[in-house]
Amino acid sequence: MKLWGGRFSQETDKTANDFQASIGFDQRLYREDIEGSLAHAAMLARQGIISPEDERQIRDGLNSILADIEAGKLEFSEDNEDIHMNIETFLTQRVGSAGKRLHTARSRNDQVALDMRLYTRRTIGEIAALVLDAIDALLAQAREHLGSVMPAYTHLQRAQPVTFAHYMLAWAQMLRRDYTRLADCRARMNECPLGAGACASTTYPLDRASVADALGFDRPTANSIDSVSDRDYLLELCSDLSILMMHLSRMCEELCLWCSWEFRFVEMDEAYSTGSSIMPQKKNPDMAELIRGKTGRVYGDLMGLLTVMKALPLAYNKDMQEDKEAAFDAMDTAKNCLRVFAPMVRTMRVRTERLRAAAGEGFINATDAADYLVRRGIPFRDAYTAVGKLVAACVEAGTTLENLPLSTLQSIHPAFGPDVYDAISLDACVNGRKVPGGPAEESVRAQIAEMEAFLAENRE
Ligand code: ARG
Repeated sequence: MKLWGGRFSQETDKTANDFQASIGFDQRLYREDIEGSLAHAAMLARQGIISPEDERQIRDGLNSILADIEAGKLEFSEDNEDIHMNIETFLTQRVGSAGKRLHTARSRNDQVALDMRLYTRRTIGEIAALVLDAIDALLAQAREHLGSVMPAYTHLQRAQPVTFAHYMLAWAQMLRRDYTRLADCRARMNECPLGAGACASTTYPLDRASVADALGFDRPTANSIDSVSDRDYLLELCSDLSILMMHLSRMCEELCLWCSWEFRFVEMDEAYSTGSSIMPQKKNPDMAELIRGKTGRVYGDLMGLLTVMKALPLAYNKDMQEDKEAAFDAMDTAKNCLRVFAPMVRTMRVRTERLRAAAGEGFINATDAADYLVRRGIPFRDAYTAVGKLVAACVEAGTTLENLPLSTLQSIHPAFGPDVYDAISLDACVNGRKVPGGPAEESVRAQIAEMEAFLAENRE
């Protein structure tokens, strides 16, 4: 018999019942469901709505159920539809009529809204900690490669000289924004919906503020209708996770490129590589590829959720049960990707000689050659044109700017002097860029210190 047996004289059709049951995927909310029920029951007793004895029995019953679920001793049933009714049924089996009083002044609508917020809040904490660990891995590589000159690219063409450390810090900035976005999401969602009931609250004298406080929320939600129909926090989290995954995907795309024999900038540790079943020479960056691939799932979760919510009338509708699989999948996927990403980055080997060779070949000191002329009083646009002609001559002759004899340089522009070779050496090009945010060692050291302070501030 269903909990709502009173109104019904017929059983739910078996196929329909299985179709609408969510216990298969919402059972992971058991801890949050019990935590919320304990806080609700305690408040009911404080307000004189149930007796202290009933509250004690409910508390003991819920705690024993929690222990038994964690010990794997309880089996959930599809007949009880979802996690909320499964637990309430266990409770009533254990403590009889006290268990039947737990749902006083509550609906599954505010209950599920609470459970999802508690679960999401906890998971945001876990994901945020993993983001910090990924930043830590990037910082570790940066510290090792302050002097590892490499080209930065625009249009995937060699552009200007930077260092590997500078590059790792660019990635760290992306993740740092992800971290702060997650923190914003957590701060905005931290309101307690319990007490909203089905949609119009309740006639019992609830103390919503004390429940909110007991569960670590900043305050109760402000409107009962909104409380049970709002899933913005899941949409916001899935948006944040989509951006995070987009960042991981961009980094992983570059790692895949860099692992290719064409680049050979980095080599993945064998613990994070796979071989081929047929080609004996292969060492593939599968982890990076898969993180890139999993990005699509999280975008899909976001789009699915947005589409579920679109055009739903207030307040609760069963459609909203569809929030769970999408949100859980996005959270699980982000966690799994970060768990592989950080150690993969930490253990990868950087081939500094390949970086430097690439930096030496693409005329990435051309801007510096023009700047040299500017320092001799030549207007930038004229200097730019002169160096452009030199580059064309180099391409023709198969050489580089620093290998041209001074006479050739001077034939294009008389302002070139013998000190130009020092001025356009790779190390001079990098270390001349010492503006804040630039690749010179002193600027990068400042970036590292700043990022270390951010980690120290935000780590538990
Ligand atoms: N399993 C439901 C969900 O996930 C719980 C809320 C059900 N409320 C209801 N009135 N049917 O959304």
